[in-house]
Amino acid sequence: MDKLRISGGRRLEGEVRISGAKNAALPIMCAALLSARPLALSNVPQLMDVATMARLLAQMGVGVERSADRIALHAQNVAHPIAPYELVKTMRASVLVLGPLLARCGQAKVSLPGGCAIGSRPVDQHVKGLQAMGAVINVDHGYMHASAERLRGARIVMDMVTVTGTENLMMAAVLAEGATVLENAAREPEVVDLARCLAAMGARIDGAGTDVIRIEGVSSLRGAEHRVMPDRIETGTYLAAAAAAGGKLRLVGAAPGTLDATIEKLQEAGARIAANGSIIEIEMAGRPKPVSIRTAPYPGFATDMQAQFMALATVADGTALITETIFENRFMHALEMQRLGADISIQGNTAMVRGVERLQGATVMATDLRASASLVIAALVAEGQTEIQRIYHLDRGYEALETKLSALGARIERIS
Ligand code: EPU
Repeated sequence: MDKLRISGGRRLEGEVRISGAKNAALPIMCAALLSARPLALSNVPQLMDVATMARLLAQMGVGVERSADRIALHAQNVAHPIAPYELVKTMRASVLVLGPLLARCGQAKVSLPGGCAIGSRPVDQHVKGLQAMGAVINVDHGYMHASAERLRGARIVMDMVTVTGTENLMMAAVLAEGATVLENAAREPEVVDLARCLAAMGARIDGAGTDVIRIEGVSSLRGAEHRVMPDRIETGTYLAAAAAAGGKLRLVGAAPGTLDATIEKLQEAGARIAANGSIIEIEMAGRPKPVSIRTAPYPGFATDMQAQFMALATVADGTALITETIFENRFMHALEMQRLGADISIQGNTAMVRGVERLQGATVMATDLRASASLVIAALVAEGQTEIQRIYHLDRGYEALETKLSALGARIERIS
């Protein structure tokens, strides 16, 4: 299995091109199921998760054509509205096919996702919302069997803010009969990007980006072209890496307006950041100041940036508190960072990180996607060599990470 070998201690300097957002591309690819006409996407990141989603859709009968950052999806017929366990277990976002399949085909068989490294992650809100729209859903042998004649619009109040839950229900509602109101909806920019794509396909959606989304169902959708928004978590990860390792970066193709919470915290850590259109520049000199964070749904501080900020805190000049409120088990990276000499103590959902002057390289193991990114950052600042095992997690969500970091002066190599 592939490993990454990183020699720390170098400042980062240069330009990085940000790719399209994984967490926008995945739901948007599922939106192709809603129309018999082609959906042409650009700025699609080249990632394992995107390949898995393409495979899942192809298996259902969707035509898939891919070249570089473009992907064309044509769901003229959806012959097999099924998401098998083998694919769902490798990528929980597969559950995003449930709403579109029900809306388009009146039936779906989707595997329950099962366990996950960062928490239990149930899908009860997806199910509850679809049931309110008239779907019958039974769980049998690990699969959700869902059916509905035609979904009906409904008023749905979600018990908690869920990103993919909001996306699934929004996609189901666009073809339902009548109006749907989603209350306590997720406000994440990826939800807005999906709504934009659906609108281009002819859907009638109001309020995406707020916590109340209104959808007026239509009888069919047309084809469309859509450019996937920039990846705000990839952007934030490079910014955090620069803040930890020091240096000067220019990020191009980014969407600074989606990163307010991250940018504010990095400035608090001592970074100088300037944004202009789709360009973000960061300059960092000296040791970071400690910054405490508390994760929250958008526009709060993203849980997907929590691990990277823990890496930054490990070398800060003082103590930071890191509180995770979205997932119950998202501190696995802390244990690995301790192997690099970090001083972290965890109590409940809060980690107290006392910054040390330097970390030391060691062998560590990646446990999930963002944990892997945080270990890369820690390795970039550690003295000597760090080897990160199980980096297949990184390939799921970071396009060309070693190439991009090498171009910035990092000493990083993949060992097969
Ligand atoms: N939840 C429920 N029931 C549900 C749905 C969610 O209890 O039916 C709970 C979850 O267990 C969690 C909270 O609600 O405690 C929020 O989870 P959410 O549903 O928002 O997460 P998600 O939609 O499964 C997406 C991203 C994650 C990101 C979270 C939070 C995608 C494909 N994934 O997951 O991204 O961490 O939102 O922002 O959009 C990643 O990219 O590494 C990643 C994990």
